[in-house]
Amino acid sequence: MIISFANHKGGVAKTTLTLNVADAFAREGLDVLVVDLDPQANVTSLLYSAEETPGVPIEQVLSGNASIAQAVIEKTNIDGVHLIGASLKLANLERQLQSTPFASTSLLAQKLVPVVPVYDIIILDTPPALSFLTANALASADFVFTPLASGSKLSLVGADDLVAFINQARTANPRLKFGGAVLTRHDTRKKVCRLVQGATKEYYDHVLLATMPATTDVDKGQIVNRTVLQLERDSNVSRAVVEIAREIMEIIGIKSKKGRTK
Ligand SMILES: Nc1ncnc2c1ncn2[C@@H]1O[C@H](COP(=O)(O)OP(=O)(O)OP(=O)(O)O)[C@@H](O)[C@H]1O
Ligand SMILES: [Mg+2]
Repeated sequence: MIISFANHKGGVAKTTLTLNVADAFAREGLDVLVVDLDPQANVTSLLYSAEETPGVPIEQVLSGNASIAQAVIEKTNIDGVHLIGASLKLANLERQLQSTPFASTSLLAQKLVPVVPVYDIIILDTPPALSFLTANALASADFVFTPLASGSKLSLVGADDLVAFINQARTANPRLKFGGAVLTRHDTRKKVCRLVQGATKEYYDHVLLATMPATTDVDKGQIVNRTVLQLERDSNVSRAVVEIAREIMEIIGIKSKKGRTK
């Protein structure tokens, strides 16, 4: 099962959800693989290292210079979560591929085939652009989820373009379903958040009931490379992350494997 977080708006918590939900999935006993498809390599910095680039980053797999198995990093900052990392050079590869007339949006999907049966869930983090890499993510995924920062009136600007892009991706990948919009930095006490929550339903077929509150724990955690669950299991935001992860599992039809012996 492959899911992707996608929204061409920057800073809406695609990466934050990828990492935190990955941790929550692993705590449900699932085998999780995160793939960094963003040339900013934020997931790689937080899950692996900000100083070192991975030995075999995703661009080497996409360019045919390494196998996907070689790219998997098993020891990451989150127990039970494996990573295929990226480096800044992913941007060069994207430029090259974009100018290749027969570059395929199903390139990533083909490369992922050997790892799909190995993991319960693969999460693709995407860049803030409706670009070749995001198209490849959507051409590989079973479900796409769209994070939205609910504290800004502008968060739904461009939603039409994203919905059209997702619909277009379905021609390459008819399996792709829209899993739902996920409200982040959500504060029900704030009028703007309630307004955005209401308006989201007009743009997106489904909006998750669980929302992620605004919290300083995300930034605090980033400083020490920890997820909110690793920082404090009993915080409001941790409970929210677990709820989001469980709602996603319900939508995509994956059951918890908590307590299983590996
Ligand atoms: N629930 C939250 N509360 C407070 N801050 C948050 C929350 N979620 C994310 N942030 C902060 O918002 C910023 C952007 O988050 P993040 O990098 O996850 O977004 P993104 O959509 O992946 O961005 P990009 O489009 O650049 O890849 C980060 O500084 C992060 O710490
Ligand atoms: Mg990001």
